[in-house]
Amino acid sequence: MAGFHGKKPIWSRLSSQRFKSCTYIPVSKKPKTSQETSESDLVRRVFYGRRQGHKLHPKQARLVEDFLPEIRITDLAADPMLAFAPSNFVPEQLVMEIGFGGGEHLAAQAETKPQIGFIGCEPFLNGVAKLLNRIQQQDLQNIRIHDEDARVLIELMPDSCLAAIYLLYPDPWPKKKHHKRRFVNSENLYHIHRLLQPGGMFYFASDIPDYVSWALIHLRNHGGFDWQAQEAADWQHPFEGWVRTRYEEKALAAGRTPTYLRFQQRANIRPGFL
Ligand SMILES: C[S@@+](CC[C@H](N)C(=O)[O-])C[C@H]1O[C@@H](n2cnc3c(N)ncnc32)[C@H](O)[C@@H]1O
Repeated sequence: MAGFHGKKPIWSRLSSQRFKSCTYIPVSKKPKTSQETSESDLVRRVFYGRRQGHKLHPKQARLVEDFLPEIRITDLAADPMLAFAPSNFVPEQLVMEIGFGGGEHLAAQAETKPQIGFIGCEPFLNGVAKLLNRIQQQDLQNIRIHDEDARVLIELMPDSCLAAIYLLYPDPWPKKKHHKRRFVNSENLYHIHRLLQPGGMFYFASDIPDYVSWALIHLRNHGGFDWQAQEAADWQHPFEGWVRTRYEEKALAAGRTPTYLRFQQRANIRPGFL
């Protein structure tokens, strides 16, 4: 980790207008086990991202209205396998993607791994609509959607229920005073670690060197993850089954370099060890 160096971030290209809207969503205040957390425990916390961009096209609006309820996760605290229960599909394993954007990576993974159940979290409605369109077009049976802040779901899901979690190009929050908004923090890592099965994988990608360093430091400090890197190629090469996300396309077009970090969950936590 100490040897990690990246290109300087280009903060000026990031729009400061993007995150104007804040809405409040219910989530619990601090890390708790799933047994300790109940929905009555919830307090209000700010979500800083955008909920919607341009007005949805009529077809997209119809998908959100009619199709989303069919594949939306409604009982957040239930066994996530049950989210697939009304269909004939019984997943071998569950994988989650947090902040799937337009769902390019999620849909491609679901298509190539039809035996796996995928749970996508994304509060940005236009992105959700885009993924819904793809799910319907390709008749993908193995995706369920939480169209809300992922924190609400990860706090309520049971221990050891996921084989892998993807966090791809999370919002970088470049200003120091906004760093506390970054998704990688000790509270979310507590839940990511708890939700992964022993040996499960946490995949993190970013084009922002400062966020990459931030992630490495936070995961090291957590102590429950092994960073799977021996040499530079290990963080320069995308994950297995990779398809470029919309945000990665933009990063590459702007001359920024992606970094791909693979962490394996270690059941025994050794604080400060990576
Ligand atoms: C920079 S975009 C990247 C989108 C996508 N992963 C990609 O690579 O194109 C970050 C995404 O994370 C979503 N996001 C931010 N905070 C989130 C949260 N707490 N839960 C779920 N998604 C979140 C945003 O709505 C946004 O779509």
